[in-house]
Amino acid sequence: MNTLYIIGAGPGDPELMTVKGMRVLEKSPTLIASKGTVNGVSTALDIVASLIDISDKKVLDVHFPMFKVKNGQARPEVHAAWQKAARLVLDHLEKGDVAFPTLGDPAVYSTAFYVYATLREINPDMNISIIPGITTMSSCSAMGGAPLCLGNEILTVVPATFNDDRLKNILVHHDTIVLMKVYRVMDRIVALLSELDLLDRAVLFERCGMEDGRIFTDVSAAADLNLHYFSTIIVRKEA
Ligand SMILES: C[S@@+](CC[C@H](N)C(=O)[O-])C[C@H]1O[C@@H](n2cnc3c(N)ncnc32)[C@H](O)[C@@H]1O
Repeated sequence: MNTLYIIGAGPGDPELMTVKGMRVLEKSPTLIASKGTVNGVSTALDIVASLIDISDKKVLDVHFPMFKVKNGQARPEVHAAWQKAARLVLDHLEKGDVAFPTLGDPAVYSTAFYVYATLREINPDMNISIIPGITTMSSCSAMGGAPLCLGNEILTVVPATFNDDRLKNILVHHDTIVLMKVYRVMDRIVALLSELDLLDRAVLFERCGMEDGRIFTDVSAAADLNLHYFSTIIVRKEA
């Protein structure tokens, strides 16, 4: 039976792909290119293409609409995209292995896991192998030269799109807070950090691990910029 491999492609620097991920990508005849917009790019596929020759591979473009919840459920078009991707994978598994590279690590806010769950519902016995990757927060930590957590510190990872009360509660009670998906909510985040006197503990990383990656220690100044979707703020209370 052929296998679907869900592969963490790392944060952007091709050298941060795992050896195992690369070996599996080389031998897989079919690749999934996950895209956030219909004609957009797949950063994970770009990472792969900079490492191995993909010209003889079948590349399946799959558009995954932005995950949004309505009435406690993912929107129907989001479900439809997972189903479509699962069917494509099943069709191509008849011919050989399929590799689904995903940015960072699949365990952290990756669409690949929704496809995984959809496939498991269709066929609980199919072969799916997950190959972890380096998370983008690990890459940000390395770029900033600061750990995420030490000793008794509590590390919390949250989407910055949570409402203010929920975010405030997390910011007050935890030691290191990784705020992902900050790019459209910078004004709100800066206001909250300012209110909690945490602005000087926050560092913003944009396109970390990529050639044009930037780091901002003045998060409020960065709020006026048109930040890329690949932006993360780390608030670490311990100096
Ligand atoms: C859908 S999540 C993917 C997370 C990824 N699976 C991981 O392991 O970190 C997308 C969010 O990850 C963060 N992100 C992805 N790439 C990044 C990068 N190169 N630099 C900073 N943040 C990044 C941003 O917060 C972005 O909104």
